[in-house]
Amino acid sequence: MNLPKTVTLVEVGPRDGLQNEQRIATPELRVELINRLADSGLQVIEAGSFVSPKWIPQMADTDKVLSKLDLGSELRYPVLVPNEEGVEKAIEAGVREIAVFASATESISRKNTNCSISESLKRLERVCERALAVKIEVRGYISCVLECPIEGVVEPGKVTAVANALVEMGCFQVSLGDTLGTGTPGMITALIESLTKEIPVTRVAGHFHDTYGQGLANVLASMQLGVTTFDSSVAGLGGCPYAPGASGNLATEDLLYMLDGMGIETGVSIDSIMDTVGFISRQLKRPLSSKVSQALTNKPAGREDQPHPL
Ligand code: HMG
Ligand code: MG
Repeated sequence: MNLPKTVTLVEVGPRDGLQNEQRIATPELRVELINRLADSGLQVIEAGSFVSPKWIPQMADTDKVLSKLDLGSELRYPVLVPNEEGVEKAIEAGVREIAVFASATESISRKNTNCSISESLKRLERVCERALAVKIEVRGYISCVLECPIEGVVEPGKVTAVANALVEMGCFQVSLGDTLGTGTPGMITALIESLTKEIPVTRVAGHFHDTYGQGLANVLASMQLGVTTFDSSVAGLGGCPYAPGASGNLATEDLLYMLDGMGIETGVSIDSIMDTVGFISRQLKRPLSSKVSQALTNKPAGREDQPHPL
């Protein structure tokens, strides 16, 4: 099997996770979550978003969260931005990286950003121009790359068109969002094979929601094609409020267990992540949902003394 030696994890729990929780986390809790994640060895932590608080009240006060982080450190703390108002707030907050998002389908573009795909791309072009002019790096997301809750199965050509536009406007990477989490390895393989005819695989990342438990299989399929960056969310927090039925992202602890077991380095400690899974689950009064958090919590006494099965 052709697999990478190292993988970069982009932790999206504090943004994609908390944006979809009923219980609104205070800025103090958000800061504590981010600091705990950083202490676990994560190098990239999406810290929040500058979107309309009427649309996503959970992400209000992202400026307060950022003011408590060391934005000058080596760690990357990107924030999600939908428009020019958002990028101005990001600049004011002193961030060094933002993430913009577009959709592969018209229906989700309207639901998520109140405009068509082409309007959103024009908007994002202005956002990128403004950010890049002040040396802020820009990552791009595409939602519903495999299936849309309204339009059904999505043709790879639609994703490629949006990805090309994002790369053209200066995004250093395009993260492929299986927003509904319905995709299977065959679908993600076909998409990446098609996309990488036009965009180098080094610029592609995977963002797999785990609704149908396909996240790990989709990561493995993507790694076999050369993808080495994956988004995940501690405790599997997350979803998308405008994509009904979508559940949380692939849990960071599930992904780490697989990568650790395969000898693929991430620089992240699963034991430390597990402490944070417990912490955030208690704070949000949320049951443990990932397979690994359930298995490790119920592990019989003495099991830790046994050698790793792999
Ligand atoms: P709109 O209503 O068309 O915006 O929404 P508008 O320009 O007409 O402005 C309306 C009001 O919002 C105004 O305030 C603006 O100031 C304010 P008012 O005058 O009524 O008091 N506003 C803002 N406030 C703060 N920050 C801003 C901002 N922009 C406008 N940046 C808009 C358009 C894009 C703003 C809205 O649709 C929006 O915020 N959408 C974001 C929705 C969102 O965050 N979705 C979840 C993130 S995407 C995701 O999760 C998918 C991903 O994980 C990948 C995957 O899984 O597929 C990335
Ligand atoms: Mg998402």
